[in-house]
Amino acid sequence: MTKTKAIYIKTFGCQMNERDSEIMVQLMGEASYRETSRPEEADCIVVNTCGIRGKAAQKAYSLLGGYRAIKDLRPEMIIAVTGCVAQLDGENLLKRMPHLDLVVGPQNIYRLPELVRAAQRRAIQAPAVELRGDFVIPPFLPKTAGKGSHRRFVTIMQGCNNFCAYCVVPHTRGREISRKPQDIIDEIRHLAAHGVREIILLGQNVNSYRGLNQVGGKDENFPVSDFPTLLRTIATLQGISRLRFTTSHPKDLSPELVRCFGEIDHLCPHFHLPVQSGSDRILAKMNRKYTKADYLTKVAELRRVRPGIAITTDIIVGFPGESNEDFEETMNLVNFVRYDSAFSFKYSDRPNAVATSFADQVPERIKSERLARLQSRLEEISREIRVSLVGTTQEVMVESRNKNAEEQWSGRTTTNQIVNFVCDHPLTPGQQLLVRLEEVCRHSFRGQLIHQSMTEKT
Ligand code: 5AD
Ligand code: SF4
Repeated sequence: MTKTKAIYIKTFGCQMNERDSEIMVQLMGEASYRETSRPEEADCIVVNTCGIRGKAAQKAYSLLGGYRAIKDLRPEMIIAVTGCVAQLDGENLLKRMPHLDLVVGPQNIYRLPELVRAAQRRAIQAPAVELRGDFVIPPFLPKTAGKGSHRRFVTIMQGCNNFCAYCVVPHTRGREISRKPQDIIDEIRHLAAHGVREIILLGQNVNSYRGLNQVGGKDENFPVSDFPTLLRTIATLQGISRLRFTTSHPKDLSPELVRCFGEIDHLCPHFHLPVQSGSDRILAKMNRKYTKADYLTKVAELRRVRPGIAITTDIIVGFPGESNEDFEETMNLVNFVRYDSAFSFKYSDRPNAVATSFADQVPERIKSERLARLQSRLEEISREIRVSLVGTTQEVMVESRNKNAEEQWSGRTTTNQIVNFVCDHPLTPGQQLLVRLEEVCRHSFRGQLIHQSMTEKT
């Protein structure tokens, strides 16, 4: 029998990276590695990196630097760098940090067990970072036990063809590649059969999903499934009662997708629609291919077909050339749309992204001032929206007991708000209940359970 070894994995970045880490842990599990939370006892350390902003990449470098001490003590253990920094830095990472054994780009994670074995044999290593246009995401049936097992991410496409001027992703994840609809459906059926009730479809740009309906078909006229068709199919699958997706590009939000929000009950009333800036001049420099007016039209359409839909976004401040007036346009847009929540960032130069060569960089101090002003306004609006929901009754999907108060349970509304409530008998994760929102807390609500019979829909 093979001796069990230990793998430690640290994940930075987006949900796609979380999902990739899950896949790596499972594949290594099949090669007799169990997961450990202690890097110092691991036979293999994997750092799954994010390169979206300089700061994220920096965190990965410093963690990797720190693992040198472990490698010095136990030279036979393997350290692998995966994810977007691995893709970006390739060979240079191995040169810069000779204590690393493996550099594996996002398309090559499925080869991890084989690469680790080769590294153990000290076979000569080249970084595994090729990005192929004809790459096929392998079919994969996830293990279903573990935390959050009622709610799972499913990758439907990866890569990006948009080349926004600030963005490193097209250079790290390559061109858009969609999974076959049948692989996606098989994976979701398998999850549902194991008690998963909520599915979050993942892709860098899910709206441009185009899945070939038959293996290997390269013919332009081959039947393809677009994103709304895929959504409609998934919504009919037994056992799945909530469906979400992320991330979307506003230019690809089609009228048909908007219609889905009016017609598919299981589709949660939540849309993450990154706007990036409220200034048409900056949007054009960012190569976003929409104007503020186009964006507002899409938000209005979504709100028309699904009143109360939560709109969330991503915003960058201090993009090269952003003037005070441009920034005020962003503030105006935020005041107009009133986002339920938002992620906001200072612009950061990234390798290979064209904006890095733009001359008119905004000074760091101004970026910080703008970000602070923006974030405080976003927080204010988000709180006002939450306060306005107090007194309403919401469908809540049970997640777990509240870590800080044993007698309480935690769950999420369809708009993804966290609600804590008391219930004196055991509940099952994935169960749906009616809860009245009673009070706004810092990042959640306190609620009162009013109806328990609304159990799992099948
Ligand atoms: N600098 C700052 N923020 C960035 N984002 C992407 N690239 C950069 C960059 N170079 C932000 C965008 C994107 C989110 C995932 O990260 O807002 O939507
Ligand atoms: Fe980070 Fe983007 Fe890579 Fe996700 S795809 S890990 S956000 S750089």
